[in-house]
Amino acid sequence: MGLNRQHAAEIISHSFIGRGYYRLVLRAPDAARSALPGQFVMLRVSQYLDPFLARPLGIYSIPSKSSIEIVYRVAGRGTSLLTQMEPGSSLAMLGPLGRGFPAVEPGATPVLVAGGSGFPPLHFFASRLRRGGLSTPLFIGARDRAGLPPQPVLASFRKYGAKISMATEDGSAGVKCMVTSILDDYLSKSGHAASSVLYACGPRAMLAVVSRVARDRSIRCFVSMEERMACGVGACMGCSVRSGTGGFKRICTEGPVFEAGELDWSS
Ligand code: FES
Repeated sequence: MGLNRQHAAEIISHSFIGRGYYRLVLRAPDAARSALPGQFVMLRVSQYLDPFLARPLGIYSIPSKSSIEIVYRVAGRGTSLLTQMEPGSSLAMLGPLGRGFPAVEPGATPVLVAGGSGFPPLHFFASRLRRGGLSTPLFIGARDRAGLPPQPVLASFRKYGAKISMATEDGSAGVKCMVTSILDDYLSKSGHAASSVLYACGPRAMLAVVSRVARDRSIRCFVSMEERMACGVGACMGCSVRSGTGGFKRICTEGPVFEAGELDWSS
């Protein structure tokens, strides 16, 4: 099925942007036209046929009508090989895949929460919110300063009107606490708490707390799950997570974006 949608995507530019992250711009007109925030692509260095070297990477932005932008951090052999690819060469690309963030409903106040390397889908989402004339609180958390997004990413979020608050567990940047603490504090003090809708991406433990904060406050919460994937198209079941009603959901096809209540956060 989806494997038929795999094609060669030429690298337009590829550069290191700090804190272990690379910025990759690919010629991909079809994806640029149709991609929604929260969707991802599977990328593989094309001369290696091993599907386990394919990496699911969230789309960071659509910089032109014919290109998509990915920001990624080296997290294994697949991304390590990817760093060596030069502009002019091609990658095997499948996508855009999965279910993205739903549109913001009239009257809702979007609030973004990013943990670790989970910012790319939220960046794409922020760019679309800006297009709609909204500016957005963005809470970013990491273990330490080195784990925060690189400066060009923070600058781009600000360009889209995001009001950034940061937290690190060791206090080396921002407030010394979990990002969920500054989120909870904001919701306690904000005059928009009742209309807030949370959009979060990051480590599962963080998403579990964000979903609990939302549940306790009876506000909606959408999470984008990060998981290792082999096929990306619903065939291998390797990305399954427990659903809130029993059974399993595949992150690659039924997600990666879920309403928090759709999932079982107990395990
Ligand atoms: Fe194969 Fe999701 S990655 S089913």
